[in-house]
Formats: sequence, C-alpha cells, structure tokens
Amino acid sequence: MEVIVVKNYEEMSRKAASIIEEKVNADPECVLGLATGGTPLGTYEQLIEGHRSRGIDYSGVTTFNLDEYVGLPRDHSQSYHTFMQEQLFSHIPFLNTYIPNGEAEDLDKECREYEALLDKEGPANIQLLGIGSNGHIGFNEPGASFEAGTHVEELDQVTREANARFFPSLEAVPTEAVTMGIASILKSEEILLLASGANKQEAIRRLLKGEMEEMFPASALYNHKHVTLIVDEEAYGKDVDTSAE
Ligand code: GLP
Repeated sequence: MEVIVVKNYEEMSRKAASIIEEKVNADPECVLGLATGGTPLGTYEQLIEGHRSRGIDYSGVTTFNLDEYVGLPRDHSQSYHTFMQEQLFSHIPFLNTYIPNGEAEDLDKECREYEALLDKEGPANIQLLGIGSNGHIGFNEPGASFEAGTHVEELDQVTREANARFFPSLEAVPTEAVTMGIASILKSEEILLLASGANKQEAIRRLLKGEMEEMFPASALYNHKHVTLIVDEEAYGKDVDTSAE
C-alpha cells in the first residue's frame, strides 16, 4: 500500500482528482468505481471543475457505485442515487452510470445481476473508497467475508449512528444496504482510499498496523497489489511535514 500524506481535505481531493483525470485522459473508455459519503465530495467538485474548465471528457466513461440503501426510494433525498445525481452525474455526462437498486423486489437477484454487470463492463480501472470509522469499505461491515461479491449487508450500529446526521432520526436510517463485496472491490485494477479528519484517525492507525482481519474490513486491501491511501494530516494523526510537496 502506497501512503500519501497530504496537508488537508482540499489537497486530498485535488490529488485524488488528478489521479482520476490522468486515467480518463489516458483511457477515455475507462471504468471508474465511485463512492458516496462526505469523503469523495471534494474530489467530485474537482472533477466537475476539470470537466468545465479543462474539458476533461467523460462521455466514454462508465461508472459503478459501491452501494445503495435497501428500501429507500431512488428519489429519496438520502438515497445514493440522489447523492450521485446531485454531486456528480448532473454536472458531468458519462456513458453509463450504475448503482445497485436497493428497491429491487428480489434483492438476491439484484446482487447477482450487479456482480455480473461488473464482470461484463468492468472491473473498475480505478475504485475510489472512503473508510468508515469502524473500518468499513462500501457497506462491508466488520465481520463481512473477504470472499463476498455484491450482497445485502446489515448495517452496523456504528454506521447507522454515523449516518443518522443525514436523517430525521436514528430510526429513519435504513438497516440494510446492497453493497459490492470485498471480493468485488478487489477486482479493480487500482484502488484509491481516501481519509480525512480526526474522526478517521483510529481507523487509519488500525489499517496501517497491517494486520488482516475480517473484523476490520479495510484490512482486506492488503490483498491487493495497487492501493494508494491518500490521507490528510488529521487522519494520519502524527506530525508529518508535508510542506515539501
Ligand atoms: C458510508 C458509505 C461508505 C463511506 C463511509 C464513510 O456509510 N457507505 O462508502 O466511505 O460511510 O463516510 P464519510 O466519507 O462520510 O466519512
């Protein structure tokens, strides 16, 4: 795992966006794996800016999102469909954008079909990831199998509490999600893991210990040969001098 420590959230976002833009310029028909949450927002802002001001062209690019809540209508303000539409897809035209359907009547079928689509059109050339404070990636919670493909995951209490800030109450936070599994994530050619802020410090410290354990999902990334962690000073948690960069 390559570790790049940057000064703050903005630098993390710029660095991530520049890696993605470089890939899109080199391969205009590439596949991007996308994430939700607060972490990638700045990256998406940078991509939109690059599209507008430098004409970076995404018209041949396909995207796959990691996850979606089960049971939230697609047009719900907190669905990941709405999030992606508002934060990226309404600003940049892509060739195809895929997000799991959390409203599917047969969720197991939905999971199988999403994985098959990923195999057919993917895998992602670059997969963007955030990390939960409990080490989750996508919605793969502590204890999730490292071998799993797309599946329905029951959300951890820690995750529901963390995401309650977006809902009227904790009870309103969905209890399940459809998520790409760890094995689906590891199919990507390259993985960009982003972390910013003091509330991610403990997760990053645990990740950098380098011990693989299913109770800490992000540690599965040690099974992948091309992972770059872009982490800001607060999340890294140690005094590092990034002034030379
Ligand atoms: C969410 C998402 C993850 C995200 C994580 C961290 O629940 N399912 O994909 O990486 O939690 O969120 P944030 O970036 O807001 O800290």
